[in-house]
Amino acid sequence: MALDLFSPVKLGSMSLNNRMVMAPLTRNRAGEGGVPQSVNVTYYEQRASAGLIITEATPISAMAHGYPALPGIYTDAQVAGWKKVTDAVHAKGGKIALQLWHVGRISHPSLLPSGALPVAPSAIKPAGQAFTYQGLQDYVTPRALELAEFPDIVADYVHATKCALAAGFDGVEIHAANGYLLDQFLREGSNKRTDNYGGSFENRARLLMEVTKAVVDVAGSDKVGLRISPVNPFNDMNDSNPQALFEYVADALNQFNLAYLHVVEGGIHGGGEAAPFDFVALRKHFKNAYMANLAYDKARGNAAIASGHADVVAYGVPFIANPDLVERYRTNAPLNEADSKTFYGGSEKGYTDYPFLTA
Ligand code: PHB
Repeated sequence: MALDLFSPVKLGSMSLNNRMVMAPLTRNRAGEGGVPQSVNVTYYEQRASAGLIITEATPISAMAHGYPALPGIYTDAQVAGWKKVTDAVHAKGGKIALQLWHVGRISHPSLLPSGALPVAPSAIKPAGQAFTYQGLQDYVTPRALELAEFPDIVADYVHATKCALAAGFDGVEIHAANGYLLDQFLREGSNKRTDNYGGSFENRARLLMEVTKAVVDVAGSDKVGLRISPVNPFNDMNDSNPQALFEYVADALNQFNLAYLHVVEGGIHGGGEAAPFDFVALRKHFKNAYMANLAYDKARGNAAIASGHADVVAYGVPFIANPDLVERYRTNAPLNEADSKTFYGGSEKGYTDYPFLTA
């Protein structure tokens, strides 16, 4: 029988009941101290029928924060809060991986310890405004990281990975997409370094490879996925040759035997026009599983799997509004419509109150 969204699959060590992945989605509803709270447990538990849940992007350190009310993955209290999430998802037969996040320059001193400047590859201010507890504020010019600081950044990823494993996650996803720290190193618009971390593809990918090696050493390659967004202009990102850059990245990542490569196949958040890009060609460079993401529906998801382009498909907005999206797709049931006003922040409304199908 032909493979489709409902066929089981193994991503590294993770055995998925189906090929519908819940994409990472920032929801800004964590408790005090970045600790997941009971409403977050309910939200993820409701969506446990996804083949795999990838959590909202989760800061790996106090300096990795860039938005209000994010959960973290670096304190004991955060680990205890996440453990309740993973226990609830596992009790429902689901799988869940945590997305490891450092925002780099997409932050604001008011969100960082002692009003620190955000850090970045280069001191280049992104266009746009930060979401802060005081409302929208212009981004500031970040501080360029010094060479001596890279081992500390890698150590933060290692610590966060250990925390994620202690919290019971089935895997971790390294966030190297959407204009955040690791992507800021990859793409040339945000990286003007003249040392070993800037210039050539090899140099711009160096921090990503160091982080990936360190995370794989702790978690095992079969528990590690990685997300890229080659042409997403969101967060003021650009590159003159994304096809060659990201084919280089995919080739270089093969050395780690990762569980999957997750690819945002275009632009998000109305960040502008995405440059043309051949994702089918990119996919051929990566030897392990490929997770496709961006505005897929059931038909396009099934087609991507049937053609061999994708092994799994990540759905974002449809999972916000439909906790039972898998069942709805399976039975061709109508979908709830998502309310974008409640995507970011707030309480249960627009978070845990979307209805399930009734029998
Ligand atoms: C967001 O909060 O808008 C956001 C967070 C992480 C992403 C993309 C967007 O990867």
